[in-house]
Amino acid sequence: RKTKTLEGKTILITAGPTYEAIDPVRFIGNHSSGKMGFSLAEEASRRGAKVILISGPSNQVMDDKRVELYRVTSAKEMLEKVFQFYDNVDIAIASAAVADYAPKEVAKEKIKKNDDSLTIELVKNPDILRTMGEKKSRQFLVGFALETQNEEENAKGKLEKKNLDMIVLNSLRDEGAGFKNNTNKIKIFTKTERKEFELKSKDDVAKDILDFVEGQLLK
Ligand code: C5P
Repeated sequence: RKTKTLEGKTILITAGPTYEAIDPVRFIGNHSSGKMGFSLAEEASRRGAKVILISGPSNQVMDDKRVELYRVTSAKEMLEKVFQFYDNVDIAIASAAVADYAPKEVAKEKIKKNDDSLTIELVKNPDILRTMGEKKSRQFLVGFALETQNEEENAKGKLEKKNLDMIVLNSLRDEGAGFKNNTNKIKIFTKTERKEFELKSKDDVAKDILDFVEGQLLK
């Protein structure tokens, strides 16, 4: 069996959370570890792809020096970095847990605890994946979905709305799946297909996802 199955392909992967600054010392963020995106990057590189990994704040380390890793902080920075490369990639996988909203203004000084309540106005962040979908030409575009209700319907809705070729649904209901765990249980959807996988390590999930992508590219 051929091992360098992604030789000649360029893959862009987003990973991790984003941090949206409130003041010089505080931010709004989430518990995404970045593990899924790092596993995808390592596996894609092993398969011979040129990999561009754009990650929000994460403790993950990249041992594979061939992976081009860019560390960013906010959604805006991630968007900017993604579109530095997007035109020239064959496959893009958005596994980052991008913050949906960011503080409208970043306080210049640390906010003091004076009043009994504090209101921070938030404004919508750019949807990086949706923007990729709008600008799609040759790219095979993969998104992730993490839903708590009507999961399959919502995932398929996102596939359409964001103009994706494939979406990976993470189940939150399954023990061991999702954000901070080293394991994940996924379902994959394209416009015409649906495939369900067992609970497994994120390294093995990465293999399943890339196997599926490769299968689609051959169609
Ligand atoms: O719409 P929702 O946030 O649930 O979609 C999740 C998918 O969209 C993930 O693939 C995530 O990486 C991507 N996304 C993004 N930019 C955002 C929000 C989500 O790229 N601002």
